[in-house]
Amino acid sequence: MKYFYPLLENTLSKDDLAAGINVIKSEQLTMSKKTKDFEFQFAKKIGAKYALMVNSGSSANLLATFAAGNPLRKNKFKIGDEVLIPSVCWPTSLWPLIQAGLKPKFIDVKKNTLNVDSDKLISSITNRTKVILLIHVLGNSTDIEKILKVAKRKKIIIIEDTCESLGSKFKKKNLGTFGDFGTYSFYFSHQITSGEGGMVVCNDKEDYNLLYSMRAHGWSRGVQNQKKIERKYKHLDPRFIFINSGFNLRPTDITAAIGHSQFKKLNKFIKIRNFNRNKIISALKNSKKWNNQFSFFQINENVKPSFFGFPVILNKKFLGKRNKYLKFLSKKGVESRPIISGNFLRQPAAKLYKLDNSKTKFPNADEIQNLGFFIGLHTQKIKEKILKRLVNALLTI
Ligand SMILES: Cc1ncc(COP(=O)(O)O)c(C=O)c1O
Repeated sequence: MKYFYPLLENTLSKDDLAAGINVIKSEQLTMSKKTKDFEFQFAKKIGAKYALMVNSGSSANLLATFAAGNPLRKNKFKIGDEVLIPSVCWPTSLWPLIQAGLKPKFIDVKKNTLNVDSDKLISSITNRTKVILLIHVLGNSTDIEKILKVAKRKKIIIIEDTCESLGSKFKKKNLGTFGDFGTYSFYFSHQITSGEGGMVVCNDKEDYNLLYSMRAHGWSRGVQNQKKIERKYKHLDPRFIFINSGFNLRPTDITAAIGHSQFKKLNKFIKIRNFNRNKIISALKNSKKWNNQFSFFQINENVKPSFFGFPVILNKKFLGKRNKYLKFLSKKGVESRPIISGNFLRQPAAKLYKLDNSKTKFPNADEIQNLGFFIGLHTQKIKEKILKRLVNALLTI
């Protein structure tokens, strides 16, 4: 299907690709200096002490979660502890928590911000709550300050899934740098891309060491105190000492070079996407056909957003008509998709693992599931002709 307004546009330019090609030509494909360079610049610009690149945003969540429960961590969760997570979440925000032995408790979101309802979240904290997985949705921020205050007092570990909000700031500080761990995705559709890729940031040296060795098999190779470890385990081959459990979540230097090249354009992308979003909203609202058919999401206070999509919630009177409408949009050349995965508890995978076994209702997540969708937000200024076509198509409901 050829869309005149696709969900994704290709943001990779010749220089991004050249950065990757140069790595291929150098024959040093596996993780090396290019990855280190990108990590260093990423941490510096984002304002975190440490950044560690991985092969996807999902891997970033996996690594952060398993580091948070690692035996070597002082403040760690135990198997069976409780984790709070918004009901509008991405599968791989959730599954690592379950895979690591945590019991998820789902919290409804706010309809107008799409983010977790912080009052509900805070009132759901119990003595068993050891982790909170926050998701900053589509460039917006959770009520990070308010949640952090309570979490710190109760020594609850915060993982900020910032896979949809790279470059968004709360009170001038980058999202992802507030909690114990922040995770980012560089998948094709996100704020920047390396094809596939992700990053974990943290501010604690011990956490960084955990992430570092767990990213690569639990190896001691390259960790900050490698020499000390080698002295301690003299009977072992110093090149092959495994100090922890682990995965292989390493990126390649190819994706690191491409990601780094894209990262340099992040501010430019943010500006244009913001410009396009304002253009689309005002064109819709100024159209003769505008009849409050949908609401746009509200940016939380003190947030300077960085978008990649344009989410809308259809007016309640269209309940039951969304799928037909989206099919129609698709025929007209406008591509769309659900907001994250809707209410994840309505997915077959959640049923398979009996995740929805409480009496809690999720009216807002359900509304987002039944009436929400999003369209793309591109990094080229939207042309008037395209804008007109888009508004015409969108308002045919
Ligand atoms: C909130 C959230 N977390 C995690 C991910 C996973 O990122 P990736 O696709 O890079 O694995 C996504 C993916 O889109 C996401 O939206």
